[in-house]
Amino acid sequence: MYIKWYELATKAMGYEVIGKPAIKEFKDIIITGMGGSGIVGDVIYSLLYTRSRTPITVVKDFRMPGWVSKDSLVCVISYSGNTLETLSAALDAMNAGAEVCVVASGGKLLEFAISKGLTYVKVDQGLAPRAAFPLLLIATLKALEFYGINVHGNLGRSLNVLKYTSEVDSVAKELAFFIFNSLPVILSSCRLYPIAMRFKNELNENSKIMAKVEVIPEWGHNDIVGWELPLDVIRAVVVYDGDPLMEFVARFLRDLKVPTYVFNLEGDDLLSKILYGVYVAGLASIYLAELRKVDPVVTRSIDRYKEFLNSRISINA
Ligand code: PA5
Repeated sequence: MYIKWYELATKAMGYEVIGKPAIKEFKDIIITGMGGSGIVGDVIYSLLYTRSRTPITVVKDFRMPGWVSKDSLVCVISYSGNTLETLSAALDAMNAGAEVCVVASGGKLLEFAISKGLTYVKVDQGLAPRAAFPLLLIATLKALEFYGINVHGNLGRSLNVLKYTSEVDSVAKELAFFIFNSLPVILSSCRLYPIAMRFKNELNENSKIMAKVEVIPEWGHNDIVGWELPLDVIRAVVVYDGDPLMEFVARFLRDLKVPTYVFNLEGDDLLSKILYGVYVAGLASIYLAELRKVDPVVTRSIDRYKEFLNSRISINA
């Protein structure tokens, strides 16, 4: 599926937003969703961080913050449409009178959107949620555009970095071999945090390993000290786009003899860099799954967690 991302993304460019946009200025924007759906919120947060005049928040919780109101725009993303945290957050937002829009492939969330007349985008079904990343991202960008929020000027051009090439493949393989049999720590700047977090999540879900994320500059005020006596099992992946601060991080770790891989990003704007990073991370996690002889698709522990939630909580829209 990852190999087909460019094709999938091109298809998603044709998605239609169904609904009637509210003609108003929102006081705040919230993007909510979990796991492979929730990461879309992190990407959009990063893209809008220095540009948006409207505060934007990412929620990965059952509840909405207390300040959500009728002046909020809440974008709810769930690939399956059945994730309890997300359904509960959507209801909370509706109860607060917020404008709610939905991105889903089906499930209760899509039924809910249709029955309540909410704005929605239906994405293609049949993928693992994390493999549907380009569909979910593009659908969400379209939904925001529908409300007059233009996150990125030239989406079509940025998608080029999702083309599967031998260069992309060899970086992914190199990363997989580098991480094999270690506990990787992925370090990034704030703006590139979605790559680090997504990389961790992909390694967790596809490769079935633990991983840690550290974000610079906060890293320099606490975690940095922990590296003075690093465990043998640790390897560092530094997400790098030319930022001198990240050069310092890589040098610092190498001085301490920590095996360090500098993950060079392609792309000439923030979205392209994030897409490239997420893409290579996904492929690397699949190669690592192969090396570890595990099935990347099945996530038994997530199923067990969801079964527990479903046995305890029922959502009635
Ligand atoms: O990638 C995955 O499979 C998970 O992280 C899911 O995205 C997560 O469990 C939430 O499910 P959904 O995306 O269907 O709301």
